[in-house]
Amino acid sequence: MAAVKRVLQTAAPLIPPAPTLPALRKAAASCKACDLWKRGTQTVFGEGARNAQVMLVGEQPGNDEDLAGHPFVGPAGKLLDRALEEAGIDRGQAYVTNVVKHFKWEPRGKRRIHAKPDVVEITACLPWLQAEIDVVKPRALVCLGSTAAQALIGRKFKVTQQRGEFVPSPLAPLVTATVHPSSILRAPDDETRRAERARFVADLKKVAKALAG
Ligand code: URA
Repeated sequence: MAAVKRVLQTAAPLIPPAPTLPALRKAAASCKACDLWKRGTQTVFGEGARNAQVMLVGEQPGNDEDLAGHPFVGPAGKLLDRALEEAGIDRGQAYVTNVVKHFKWEPRGKRRIHAKPDVVEITACLPWLQAEIDVVKPRALVCLGSTAAQALIGRKFKVTQQRGEFVPSPLAPLVTATVHPSSILRAPDDETRRAERARFVADLKKVAKALAG
């Protein structure tokens, strides 16, 4: 029997030449590089200032983002907004996006429950994020959670041990990772949530300080 060679499909052929953010957003709207387009309501592309100094990268849109078509507008996004403000980073001057641009979910009763994107979906979607980085050229790239950290920094990066560290990377002058804001919302009690939130703000303050320095 002839060997079947599996070729990973990616969004690379869909990236327009000399892309701009509006051109990328338009092209991504009809992306079918992986099967998640069948499940999500729409592509949720990154948003923010074209010349943002800071790019924040999450995992994938959640239920609220899928319906709204905008990244980080649900509870995790609200936590992120307030934490950025406390850290002295203006969200209006930041660019927020995700590694995967469609919501991956599983049905549970009437609810749509977040499901982790797999390596095929992440690989397929990465050219969009690379193009966003190429256009925005942020000075600081902040991975929110392990999916973003492992996709952008590497599989060996452990957010629990290395959060807040700056790592050398060709992607931007300052590259770091911290926890995903959703993980703070999932804290088992108020005291843990307060402590985790304070650590998150402290990580973002390191970014603000490095940008100012
Ligand atoms: N979680 C993410 O990773 N991204 C969003 O846009 C919302 C929630």
